[in-house]
Formats: sequence, structure tokens, C-alpha cells
Amino acid sequence: MFNSLTVAVAGAGFIGPVHVEGIRRLGIRVKGLLGKDLAESQSACKQLNLDHPYGSYEELLADDEIDAVHLAVPNVLHYSMVKKALAAGKHVMCEKPLAMTSKEGAELLELAKNSNLKCGVNYNLRFYPINLEVKDRLAAADTRIFAVTGSYMQDWLLYDTDYNWRVLAEQGGALRAVSDIGTHWLDLVHFLTGLEAEAVLADLTTVHKQRKRPIGEVSSFTNDAEKEQATETIDVTTDDCASILFKFRGGARGQLFVSQISAGHKNQLKYDIATQQAAYEWNSERPNELLIGKRGEANQLLMKDPGLMTGTAAPYVNYPGGHNEGFPDTFKQCFRAFYNDILGNTPAGESLYASFEDGHRELVLCDAILESHEKQGWVAL
Ligand SMILES: NC(=O)c1ccc[n+]([C@@H]2O[C@H](COP(=O)([O-])OP(=O)(O)OC[C@H]3O[C@@H](n4cnc5c(N)ncnc54)[C@H](O)[C@@H]3O)[C@@H](O)[C@H]2O)c1
Repeated sequence: MFNSLTVAVAGAGFIGPVHVEGIRRLGIRVKGLLGKDLAESQSACKQLNLDHPYGSYEELLADDEIDAVHLAVPNVLHYSMVKKALAAGKHVMCEKPLAMTSKEGAELLELAKNSNLKCGVNYNLRFYPINLEVKDRLAAADTRIFAVTGSYMQDWLLYDTDYNWRVLAEQGGALRAVSDIGTHWLDLVHFLTGLEAEAVLADLTTVHKQRKRPIGEVSSFTNDAEKEQATETIDVTTDDCASILFKFRGGARGQLFVSQISAGHKNQLKYDIATQQAAYEWNSERPNELLIGKRGEANQLLMKDPGLMTGTAAPYVNYPGGHNEGFPDTFKQCFRAFYNDILGNTPAGESLYASFEDGHRELVLCDAILESHEKQGWVAL
């Protein structure tokens, strides 16, 4: 049924082409792509073998063949592009974070609720099979969760010569490491446990208060060798790293460290969910393994294997045990959930992709985290 759908993607940088690949792997047609200008649209379409390079967003939205739009553009554009997509009657899969502030997010959530359109935020980490398995096990155990600890660390912004639009508050938002990668952790923990934060205490640090910006824009995760030599010095206010404590409703406690300046950690999200019965420890750089910590017996290491996994994960595991699934697979599976919802194949309220409500929740948390840092004290939600 997926072959009845036609989709367009906006954004030709790091993640736009990952969307194109994930959508295509489901058998859905990607008609075309929009870059920042026609030249970028044309070169991306040529590279990805897509039919239609769009000259403008207006042209894309006026295309009657397009059922859904994927937004893989800098954060500052999400709000206005989502609004326009909904006004044009297109389903939207927006990259994270949903918007720059919770106020913008609330408006988008309201628009989404009042439309007949499906609206998702690409918190793709939910779709590692092991994470779906943890969600199922926690729900089945109906156990008390004591604490959730973890981190999300990267090293691609370690040097003051590392630059990307994300370091600019006006392009990415007032928060950077927290909003760019921390919200993945926040979304994932909520998705797995259902825990709702009732208060946060945050301390943010900008290690490089000035960075050297290459003259001419650079795409995300550019190799050192590809960087331009000529640079200009810019002031930076966004966080390189952050420590955050959480009080969750019901009594559980949480602790998160986020960093984009931790050498050797390429793209590593970790969580440890401590429950009455067991602890579940996962590391996104070894995504096909789950360590199940036990008190009264030997710990277990569960390898991703459809034969050993329970209900929720089953439709989202496409390869046998030992055949590792990774980052691009999570996009495919997130979009599988999204398009099944569009086609009416999912019972109401049971979709697993992040909704605008989820996207808005992370923005509310971001606002509280920023406020907590500014006043150096607990902020209630
Ligand atoms: N879910 C994930 O794992 C994940 C990973 C990376 C990035 N992202 C998100 O994806 C978005 C894009 O990030 P990226 O790393 O790909 O950035 P990028 O800088 O590599 O790419 C952004 C692209 O958008 C294009 N663009 C800029 N203005 C545009 C406009 N007006 N119309 C159309 N295209 C325009 C740029 O030319 C570029 O091709 C961000 O919101 C980011 O948070 C998500």
C-alpha cells in the first residue's frame, strides 16, 4: 500500500538524504527535493536520482502529487515550514527539535490537532529494536522505576575551529547540545518509561565562547580536511555541554549529561533504567545489545534477535539475529510507523513515532532547563 504515496523532502545536507533513503526503502516514491536554492535542489536530485528539483517551498507545496513533506532543514525554519505544510494540506514529518521555543511548539501542536493531517517529529532513536523491546519489557513488568541516568556525547564540536549553524542561537535555538541531542534522550526516556518530569535543575557550559567560522557555510559532520581555511571569529552563547537533574512524577529521579565536546564519543547516547526488578542499560554505539542488570542472578546480555523479542519490536525488526540494524534503519522504521498511520493501518493512539505533542513536551523541558540554568535553581514544570 505504501506505493500509493508520493513524498518530497526539504533539506539536502547531512540528514535530508538519509530521509530519502529511509522513505525509499519502504517502497514509497520520493518525487523530489528542495535545497536552499534551485542549484542545491538540482545537484541533490542528480546525486540521489530524484525526478524533481524544486525551485521553492511554495512550488513544492503546490504540487498536488505530494502527500507528505519531510523537513530536514535548520531548526529556525521548522516552525514556518510546518505551518505552511499544514495550510497546504500535507502530512509532515519534521526533524527535531519541532521548533525553536515551546511557544512555537504549542502553536504547531494546536494546528496539528485541528487538522486531519498526520504530524510527526523524527525522534528516530525510538526505533532501534532493542529500545522497542525495553519499552515492552517495562510495560509488561509493571515495575517501579527508581532512577534513569545517562548521557548523550559527541565530539564533532570539540575544537574552536569546529563550526556549524547549530552553534548560532538564531539558527538552532538558545540551547544547542541540550536541544540538538539532549532532546533525543528526553524523548527516548519518556517513550520507554512514560515518566513525566515535574522539576529540573540544569547547569550549562559554553566551553568555546568564540569559534572560528569558515567563510562559506559548512554541512554537518564535515571532515577536518574538507573545511575551508579562511575563517572569521564569532561569539557563541549556546551550550557545549550540560548537566541536568530531574524529579519525575511518582518519585523516580533522573540525571543526564550532554556534550558535543567529549573526545572519542562520536554519537553515543546511553541510558540506565533502574527498576525494582532489573536495570536496563543501552548504548547507541552498540545498538543491538541490551545489558539487563540483575541482583540475585547473573546479568544478561540480550542480542537483537527477532526470535527472542516480544510484541512491539517484532514489526520493526527486519533482519535475523546477528545481522546488525543501525542508524539508517531507525529512519526507515520511524517512517514505517508514520506512513502506516497515514494509511489508517494503526489503531488510534497506538502509533510509535513521536507526535507533535511529544515534540512540544521536549521544547517545554528545554525552556525549563534554560530557565533553571539562568537562575541556578530548580524549576517546576
Ligand atoms: N534525527 C536525527 O538523527 C538528526 C540528525 C541530524 C540532524 N537532524 C536535524 O535535521 C535538521 C537538519 O540538520 P542537518 O544536520 O542535515 O543540517 P545540514 O546543515 O547538514 O543541512 C541542512 C540543509 O538544509 C538546506 N536549507 C537551508 N535553508 C533551506 C531552505 N530555506 N529551504 C530548503 N532547504 C534549506 C541547506 O542548504 C542544507 O542542505 C536539523 O533540524 C537537525 O536537528 C536530525
